Amino acid sequence: MRQPMVAGNWKMNGSSSSVSELIEGIKAGVGAANAEVVVCPPYIYIPAVASAIAGSDIHLGAQNMCDQDSGAFTGEVAGPMLKDAGCEYVIIGHSERRAIYGESDEVTAVKYAAVLKNNLKPIFCIGESLEEREQGITEQVVARQIDAILDGSGVASLANAVLAYEPVWAIGTGKTATPEQAQEVHAFIRGKIAEQDAAIAEGLRILYGGSMNPGNAAELRSQPDIDGGLIGGASLKADDFLTICTAN
Ligand code: 13P
Repeated sequence: MRQPMVAGNWKMNGSSSSVSELIEGIKAGVGAANAEVVVCPPYIYIPAVASAIAGSDIHLGAQNMCDQDSGAFTGEVAGPMLKDAGCEYVIIGHSERRAIYGESDEVTAVKYAAVLKNNLKPIFCIGESLEEREQGITEQVVARQIDAILDGSGVASLANAVLAYEPVWAIGTGKTATPEQAQEVHAFIRGKIAEQDAAIAEGLRILYGGSMNPGNAAELRSQPDIDGGLIGGASLKADDFLTICTAN
């Protein structure tokens, strides 16, 4: 049985006071969650959140990571630093990193390998644009994105990773993939991994991301190949996030 996961990607939002309020709110309700609960704050709030969640059931992640461990890389944050600060997960390959900061499949693959090397766990994001969906090439796109990490790190690496299918057209748009659309792609992804290793595929958690909210979480989460969610906007309100964490 795969343990479901619900992860909040706070993106570039918050302040000291709003972050404190949010994490206290999540802490108060996390006991009712039927999933592993992860929060991914902006780097600068990671230490404060790490202190706040100490001893709780909330897990900590970062939104990005440098592929190098230390040195002259102005503005970057390294894996050993994230580990030192208490992180367990790192989001890699988010479509905003790919589209806005030009991260190619090759860059995401190198970062994915660096996360694992640092004994952290990647939450590796994949997903097609609206144009690609309309062209009917969704499966080719996600297969190519997955092949980048399989070629670089091998299928066994997925034993320590989580995948997140996030159709770009559903991110922050209020447009959600229907449960059937999402399930279809999740099943394709699991089948693709199973071609290389059936046991790894069976144990792999594949999250859905893209306008998941308290109203649609239960139906999405009930699909057989959807193992939880990677939540943007709705993870910034404790009540909404907790509703998604408890949905079934
Ligand atoms: P939204 O939930 O705001 O659509 O964002 C999804 C996302 O990008 C999570 O990484």
